Amino acid sequence: MNGFFSIAIDGPSGAGKSSLARKLAEAFRFIYVDTGAIYRTVGLAAYRAGIDRKDEQAVKSLLPKIKIELGYNEAGEQRMYLDGEDVSAEIRRPEISICASDVSSLPAVRAYLLEMQRELARRNNVIMDGRDIGTVVLPGAELKIFLTADSRARAQRRLLELKAKGIEADFEDVLQDIEYRDRQDSSRAAAPLRAAEDALVVDTSEIDFEQSFRLLAELVVTRLAPERDGDI
Ligand code: DC
Repeated sequence: MNGFFSIAIDGPSGAGKSSLARKLAEAFRFIYVDTGAIYRTVGLAAYRAGIDRKDEQAVKSLLPKIKIELGYNEAGEQRMYLDGEDVSAEIRRPEISICASDVSSLPAVRAYLLEMQRELARRNNVIMDGRDIGTVVLPGAELKIFLTADSRARAQRRLLELKAKGIEADFEDVLQDIEYRDRQDSSRAAAPLRAAEDALVVDTSEIDFEQSFRLLAELVVTRLAPERDGDI
C-alpha cells in the first residue's frame, strides 16, 4: 500500500459500475476513474483515423501520434481530451462503444494505458472502474467488487442512460451491442473480463440503484473502517 486506498470495480457494461462508483467516490471523497472512457478515447481516435480497429500494428502506430489526457472539471466530473479537444460526450456514441471494445482487445493498447491508470492510483484515493482493474491494473486494491447483472437488465439501463443524454436508441440494438461486447471483452486473450479471486461478486439484476449503493457503501465502510471514519 502506498498511503492511498484503491477500490476496484469491474464488471460487464451496463451493470451500473459507473453511476455507483461515481456516487461512492462522492460519499467517501475518493476520485472516480472511469477507465472505459480512456479506452473509448483510443477507440474514437482509431475511428477518426479510419483505420481497422482490430489491426494491432495500425492501432499501435497511431498511439504515439495522439495525445490522451484525463482531467476533472469544477464539478469533479471526469473529462477526456483527445489532442486537446474535449471528447467526453462524443465517446459515448454507440458506435464508439464498439470501437472501444475492439481496440481494448489489443495488448499494445492495454500496455499503453496501464501506466496512466496506475499513476492515478499512486497519487489519489481512487475508485476505479473497468474490466481488469482488480486483476491487472490494481491487483493490490484494498477492496475489489465484481458487479454484474443479466444482459437484458443491463440493456434496459443503458437505453435509459442514452435517452437521458438525448441519444435515441433501440432496445434490441443496445442488447446486441452489450452481448457483442460481453463476448469480446470476456473471451479476449489480453486481460479478459473476469472477477479477481478476492473480489466480492454483486449481482444487481434484482436490486435498484439505491439498494446497490447501500450494499456497496457497507462493503466500503467495513473494509476501510479501521483506517477512516466511513461516515456517508
Ligand atoms: O466501461 P465502458 O463500456 O465505457 O468500456 C468501453 C470498452 O472498453 C469495453 O467494451 C471494454 C473496454 N474496457 C476494457 O477493456 N478495460 C477496462 N478497464 C475498461 C474498459
